Amino acid sequence: MGYHFKLKHIWRIIYNIFNEYMVNFFGWRRRVTSDKKLNGQVVVITGANTGIGKETAYQLTLREAKVYILCRDLKKGEAAVNDILSLNPKANIKLLSLDLSSLKSVRKCVEELSGLETKVDILINNAGVALCPEWTTADGFEMQFGTNHLGHFLFTLHLIPMLKNAPAARIITVSSGIHLFGQIHLDNVNLRNGTYNPFFSYAQSKLANVLFSRELAKRLRYSNISTYSLTPGVVNTDLSRHVGTSEPREGSVSTESGWLKRRFFLTPLMGSQTTLYCALDDKLANESGFYYKLLSLDLSSLTSVRKCVEELSDLETKVDILINNAGVMACPEWQTEDGFEMQFGTNHLGHFLLTMHLLPLLRSSPAARIINVSSSMHLMGEINLDNINLQHGVYDPTKAYAQSKLANVLFTRELAKRLDKTNVNIYSLNPGAISTDLQRHTTFSDGFFKRNFFLKPCLGSQTTLYCALDESVANESGFYYESVIVEINCHRVDSMVAEAMDDSTARKLWSLSVDLSAIPLTTKEDLKAYGRRVAIHSILAAIVMITAGVIIYLGTFDNGKYHDKTRINLTDAGAQLKYVCRHQTPALLWLFLSMLWVISKRIGTRAMIPCSGSEDLTELAKMHFLNTLEQFIM
Ligand SMILES: NC(=O)c1ccc[n+]([C@@H]2O[C@H](COP(=O)([O-])OP(=O)(O)OC[C@H]3O[C@@H](n4cnc5c(N)ncnc54)[C@H](OP(=O)(O)O)[C@@H]3O)[C@@H](O)[C@H]2O)c1
Repeated sequence: MGYHFKLKHIWRIIYNIFNEYMVNFFGWRRRVTSDKKLNGQVVVITGANTGIGKETAYQLTLREAKVYILCRDLKKGEAAVNDILSLNPKANIKLLSLDLSSLKSVRKCVEELSGLETKVDILINNAGVALCPEWTTADGFEMQFGTNHLGHFLFTLHLIPMLKNAPAARIITVSSGIHLFGQIHLDNVNLRNGTYNPFFSYAQSKLANVLFSRELAKRLRYSNISTYSLTPGVVNTDLSRHVGTSEPREGSVSTESGWLKRRFFLTPLMGSQTTLYCALDDKLANESGFYYKLLSLDLSSLTSVRKCVEELSDLETKVDILINNAGVMACPEWQTEDGFEMQFGTNHLGHFLLTMHLLPLLRSSPAARIINVSSSMHLMGEINLDNINLQHGVYDPTKAYAQSKLANVLFTRELAKRLDKTNVNIYSLNPGAISTDLQRHTTFSDGFFKRNFFLKPCLGSQTTLYCALDESVANESGFYYESVIVEINCHRVDSMVAEAMDDSTARKLWSLSVDLSAIPLTTKEDLKAYGRRVAIHSILAAIVMITAGVIIYLGTFDNGKYHDKTRINLTDAGAQLKYVCRHQTPALLWLFLSMLWVISKRIGTRAMIPCSGSEDLTELAKMHFLNTLEQFIM
């Protein structure tokens, strides 16, 4: 039996660890937003005397659930109950004894619980042992498989009658990202005969968690019970206490955590977020058997957007519906991490970059939809191409919001053109005036007016749902939708203000956004995304332009003495240079420029092709060539 621990595994580990740690280090993870209360609900959590389980238990007592924590060491369990009570004196928390490494103890615990409760609403299989030496359970199974999977398997199956007594029950199994390295060794599940390896044994047990959750979902598909498995992320807990030991160790987060662990690992509070999400979020009510991982996305950081896309691309091979819904409104003159005005940077630029990077996944769907949630405030908007960040004293919170929302509408129009005759349709919309936290920076943040004249979020989501779901818009793209209160149905708005139909500004905004978000347009997917139509038009346009005697130039003019020299030469020769980019490969580019310079001199043409990015010069040149020529013809 081999573990197939190949180079790709090592890269995957390094990549995952780096990714995870960076996300944690920069605090990009977000907390669960559901404020659902669980009054009258019974929650059972295994292994909750410490770590993620203890934090989950505390958080669920705050939501008024009756929480049972099941621990193998009652002393530690009591200490945890006292800790939780000291933080939340009203906590309804009970302690039972459960040792998952003993099937007898599992059966006893079920008996005890059924004597106390008639139903269980949420079961959280959280307990786990990791990376221990080759130990065996009371029943002779390998410790990690026996505890993490087999103990939970038996416990869950015995609890199903009680879960069936709840109106809608959830079984949540805390797995790990390490399951990616797992293999189920069905012919030697205890990894005997010298094949034991702590890491792969843990990975096997965590893969078993995921597969168990999937299989259980299938078997319970006609019942009231849904199942979920998840990874909590890399969390600063006692989990690794057995690494490098021969005897069981107690471990203590507070005393043993070094600086690195404290800085790069999640706190138990953040580590409990995915469990809480699976336990609380109403959106998951109709899902079962899936695996969850909290993605983090901060649209005001282009780095975070790129990271989120990477994470998503690791998890999914296609995206069917992308809803660009996030937004910030009328805030003070703040800046994004990359130095852009906050509302433009978040509402438009962050979504622009996210959408552009997700195009390959969207193109993989049979029929994808991109929905940009704009606002009626776009009516007051104006795109300040020369001062998009509204600097030099012209910043006004409302004006900035209106600009960003107009940008949503124009982006939709422009993208629809570029994705014409593809499988992707794009819609923008006005959800109406909705009572949410969006108004937190305004004087409408609370009060009579908002309570009585704004719509509830449920009604505010209708136009988004219409664009996401309605068959009648399947053949439309690039339009703007809204729902007027007197009209029950959502509808397309054809009569827009001139600014929202200004295709020339839409194109310029596109070019500016490509430059500001520094998208390297170098991949085949990018090329595909613009469609063959653009390529054919561009080639035709190139022939027309060359025949008409225009200079063709590819270059970047703001960096490096070679470019400067080329710029001066070209200007002297009468070329019009109007595009400046920030990213370049000076040496290679210089060679390429020189070549074009010679060719253009020889054929006596005159035009300009801008350039940015640095990865693959040939693709880059091709892409920008097409892009610029496209602007001549559209
Ligand atoms: N920390 C991470 O970075 C991370 C990452 C991915 C997945 N996870 C998963 O998250 C879950 C919680 O881990 P954690 O990080 O919170 O670790 P932790 O602080 O070590 O907590 C593990 C809990 O499981 C209990 N447990 C261990 N063996 C048990 C047994 N035989 N019977 C009953 N309870 C038992 C422990 O009790 P004792 O204190 O008595 O040992 C403890 O309460 C685990 O399933 C783990 O695999 C953690």
